[in-house]
Amino acid sequence: MLKDKIEALKAEIAGLKAASADEAEALRIKYLSKKGSVSLLFEDFKTVAPELKREMGQKLNELKTLAQNRIAELKASAAAAAQKEVEKTDVSRPGTPSPIGGRHPLSIVKNEIVEIFGRLGFTVAEGPEVEDDWHVFTALNFPPEHPARDMQDTFFINTNPDILLRTHTSSVQVREMERKRPPIRAVFPGRVFRNEAISARAHCIFHQVEGLYVAKNVSFADLKQVLLYFAKEMFGSDVEIRLRPSYFPFTEPSAEMDVSCTLCGGKGCGVCKGSGWLEILGCGMVDPAVLENNGIDPKEYSGYAFGMGVERIAMLRYGVDDIRNFFENDVRFLSQFQSAM
Ligand code: PHE
Repeated sequence: MLKDKIEALKAEIAGLKAASADEAEALRIKYLSKKGSVSLLFEDFKTVAPELKREMGQKLNELKTLAQNRIAELKASAAAAAQKEVEKTDVSRPGTPSPIGGRHPLSIVKNEIVEIFGRLGFTVAEGPEVEDDWHVFTALNFPPEHPARDMQDTFFINTNPDILLRTHTSSVQVREMERKRPPIRAVFPGRVFRNEAISARAHCIFHQVEGLYVAKNVSFADLKQVLLYFAKEMFGSDVEIRLRPSYFPFTEPSAEMDVSCTLCGGKGCGVCKGSGWLEILGCGMVDPAVLENNGIDPKEYSGYAFGMGVERIAMLRYGVDDIRNFFENDVRFLSQFQSAM
């Protein structure tokens, strides 16, 4: 009987539920689309006896209206619930911070060194870390029996005594003199390797910045002036420098440069071991034999060279008392360094 079907559907529709707008739409299709169960009852209506048509027609229309209202209600409440969910989000709340990385302190200091010499007209060049004996030792006037060539200091590759990890960036001096003719004015930053026991003050891997100037009439006074300028730019205008005679096979005369202790101002403290001075670099006039080894006439040209330890300078700059901090990559250490460079 159509009447019973209408009553059954009425009860069913009154109890409908929808958790979302999509579910409500699915119900609309199920009941009210062309093939929906409410629409199909209108087909049955065609066979209703004439005396019942009026009553059944009314009931059918009521059912349709009921279904339309119920589904509209479900759609409205699903939309309201979704809106409420959106409003729960506090858009004014600060986001979860994702910390951005910073430069490594050794990079900051290296860049600063390169930048200071850049202001004096020094260009920048690099050379390989895996080198041959010629560039690290022989061209630099190291005699064959020099202790620096010894297995104890130098890392060799595959026990081939000709291929090794460079022990200093002075090898790039040689490479630069091979590829350029004077005037040469350049700095060479890079990583170097020595077979040394690791301690608070020494590491088997560290960094240097080498400098080389070869031109006509270069004097020791030029070297001293440039190093004084560098020290003041790096450590502040109060800093003093001191050159002590030293020896390197590739410079003559040779010197080591100290700066007045940045921590105690020269009075003497634990870091400078009471002396008031800290050694930061080796330097000297390029030995004529080195110029000759590289096809530069020492009668026409002279030059100076220097090489400094980046870790040592960074330790002084930032008051770091253990070199190993630079290689452990602990973010609690690294995040303390900020720089524009
Ligand atoms: N290469 C030397 C060292 O590693 C430093 C140096 C460079 C000395 C240039 C003189 C000239 O100790």
